[in-house]
Amino acid sequence: MVVDKTIYEEINILKKKKNAVILSHYYQTPDIQDIADFIGDSLALSQQAAATKADMIVFAGVVFMAETAKILSPQKKVIIPDPLAGCSLADSCRKEDFQKFIDDNPGRTVVTYVNTTADIKALSDIACTSSNARQIIESLPPDEKIIFGPDRNLGNYIKGLTGRDIIVWNGSCHVHEQFSLEAILKLKRENPGSKIIAHPECEMPVRIAADFIGSTSGLLSFISRDPGKVFIVATEPGIIHQMKKYQKDKLFIPAPPKDSTCGCSECNFMKMITVEKIYKSLKFEEPEITVDPEIIERAALPIRRMLEISAKLGL
Ligand code: 13P
Ligand code: SF4
Repeated sequence: MVVDKTIYEEINILKKKKNAVILSHYYQTPDIQDIADFIGDSLALSQQAAATKADMIVFAGVVFMAETAKILSPQKKVIIPDPLAGCSLADSCRKEDFQKFIDDNPGRTVVTYVNTTADIKALSDIACTSSNARQIIESLPPDEKIIFGPDRNLGNYIKGLTGRDIIVWNGSCHVHEQFSLEAILKLKRENPGSKIIAHPECEMPVRIAADFIGSTSGLLSFISRDPGKVFIVATEPGIIHQMKKYQKDKLFIPAPPKDSTCGCSECNFMKMITVEKIYKSLKFEEPEITVDPEIIERAALPIRRMLEISAKLGL
């Protein structure tokens, strides 16, 4: 979509006037990534939300990310340009069901991926993201029994890596479960020497075929250090904008979905955010993210615990 140049100027004026920052996830469209003050994966964005001196955060991402920012900085105004920008993974874990899962499996430490609602975080002992999940699990005593939620693919991947006693909630992300192994392998055959890189939310067959598995920031650093020239990218294709910036002479091919007629490897929730909506939300300071103060108090504990461990490990 063509956006009037003045909208970018207006965004800059409003940001200064209101001491606001725009935080963007790598899955946002290139125009949004390019106007953001900070781009990152879920971990980096939560670290940034905790550290920023701004009075207002405009979150170009999905609701659970903006909620995490609000939980970490309750005194700040956190704006989400479209409140319907949800997450199928967060939706696959409802509070009452997860509470029952915890009650049915007593004595286990509850580790949850940040892709959850604030209510689920409030039920958790420690949070993690895809870039620190392994280290968070390994920071717990070796005999600790663990519940991991909500992503079954990330959970089973970490369970395999660590060999820990983990029971995994049966949730998933509709985007990462869409990749077609057959089409990915066909692309690899057609591009000799290419490497498959995958997010850990992908299903097991794709993870097994992958040359490298990592969070969005993990994938970015891999393509920078690896001598390969062609990469088949099994995660939301928004990340490819940064990959091309990092490595101009390399080729990045989005992994195809099972249904070749749909654009379903794009996260429809992430793509609900537009530059126009960012402008409007900055101007009118809404829709604002609000979280019940009691939930904030409980949900902040697992996130802060994760941030402390990550800081100690230099992540
Ligand atoms: P990252 O932790 O890599 O940012 O992933 C977030 C996400 O939503 C993946 O679908
Ligand atoms: Fe949620 Fe999947 Fe979209 Fe990430 S890609 S925000 S996990 S629906």
